[in-house]
Amino acid sequence: MTSQPQESVPSHVCIIMDGNGRWAKKRLMPRGYGHRQGVETTRRAVEFFASAGITHLTLFAFSSENWNRPDEEVNGLMELFMQSLQKYTSELHEKGIRIRFIGNRAMFSEDLQQKISETEVITGNNSVMTLNIAANYGGQWDIVNAARTLAEQVSEGEITSAQIDEQVFRQELSLGDSPDPDLFIRTGGEHRISNFLLWQLAYAEFYFCDQLWPDFSDSDMRAALTEYAQRQRRYGKTGEQIEAAN
Ligand code: FPP
Repeated sequence: MTSQPQESVPSHVCIIMDGNGRWAKKRLMPRGYGHRQGVETTRRAVEFFASAGITHLTLFAFSSENWNRPDEEVNGLMELFMQSLQKYTSELHEKGIRIRFIGNRAMFSEDLQQKISETEVITGNNSVMTLNIAANYGGQWDIVNAARTLAEQVSEGEITSAQIDEQVFRQELSLGDSPDPDLFIRTGGEHRISNFLLWQLAYAEFYFCDQLWPDFSDSDMRAALTEYAQRQRRYGKTGEQIEAAN
């Protein structure tokens, strides 16, 4: 890809990969066909963003609300996650990619939980890019979990409630050791955050596009980065203050 000045390249990109079902429906195929094609796009996206110098990529693979889909689709997705891990872990490991899962994994089958832990251990020391896969994840779940952990620490006398500030709180969230996402991308035409990284997206730049996830091409990915490079991030300051500081 064409290089951009370093400061205009995001460190952390997160994506809601939406539109697999509609992509399949347009082809009169079952939704699972769209999800399988979605895995191919996921693979391309990991490669594209790693080679663009992005150090953290977080993908929304399965939300806590997705359990409400028909059993056939949920079971198919679980099977697809398992197969994808079996198929791609060694390739990603060779590329120096660390894979982590965020979300409540306790609801997955024993086999899938085992595979997830194994993948995290195998790739745990890689440093080219961290790939966070949000599976059975919900932003509200994440915040409640952090609050519960801190409440327990207060009741054990490890900290006082007065010590809880934004920094302390963020460390208890799923991505507490990572920079917050700079760029949020959602494919599939919907303009929603859908209970993704609610806390962590506080200052992210939002980029929505109509392409369905299986159709999201390298040039669409490049377009998202180009648009990001043109945004001015102000963090509550004025445009004049930001320009004076540059
Ligand atoms: C949203 O499309 C997509 C999902 C709920 C599943 C996403 C999963 C993948 C792309 C596979 C990724 C695999 C790994 C291993 C990370 P949708 O079904 O909501 O589409 P629709 O809005 O058109 O119905």
